[in-house]
Amino acid sequence: MKFFLDTADVTAIKKINALGLVDGVTTNPTIIAKEGRVFEEVIKEICSIVDGPVSAEVTSLEADGMVAEAKEIVQWAENIVIKIPMTEEGLKATNELSKLGIKTNVTLIFSVAQGLLAAKAGATFISPFLGRLDDTGTSGIELVAKLREVLDTYGFSTEIIAASVRISEHVEKASLVGAHIATVPPSLYQTLWSHPLTDKGIAQFMADWESFQGGNK
Ligand code: E4P
Repeated sequence: MKFFLDTADVTAIKKINALGLVDGVTTNPTIIAKEGRVFEEVIKEICSIVDGPVSAEVTSLEADGMVAEAKEIVQWAENIVIKIPMTEEGLKATNELSKLGIKTNVTLIFSVAQGLLAAKAGATFISPFLGRLDDTGTSGIELVAKLREVLDTYGFSTEIIAASVRISEHVEKASLVGAHIATVPPSLYQTLWSHPLTDKGIAQFMADWESFQGGNK
């Protein structure tokens, strides 16, 4: 399973990338706006840090505008993936970009039908939003499981990015139901390697070691 970072915070990306734990990065207009930096500048910087795919989202709502933006954005770096909203116009743009060999991440997926259509249109990645779906009382994890089943049944190469990940359980369950990737905010990622029993175990080992050393003096 691959792990992407869901952020445009380059300090956080550098820190976690140094652990070898970053297979890619996803951004969206909200995430970019939070950094208060020029879109092109921040995407170029992220692409220079991370080897894997970096999703940059278009803001046009018409297919022609999306394709024009995509053609410009892909020139910024070799590892850019164009993030496209899941709409009729988005599907049209995804289809055109796929024919041009430009990788896409179709975002804001909330149903199996949406995921299936995006895959048929040629999406490289589809992003079901777990947290936002859970908020409506529908299981985001169940959607990921169904999407995986459909993609496998029909032999699509499209990969599922479990997005809108808010709790460690989302990451664990996404891995169990076959998400190819989880995109995780840095604040949550840093909690994944911690466990209170690990901390308690280390404290106990250290205390036992110190008393053993003391006894050997
Ligand atoms: C990732 O591609 C999405 O943009 C992101 O995970 C959305 O997360 P949110 O629902 O927490 O905003």
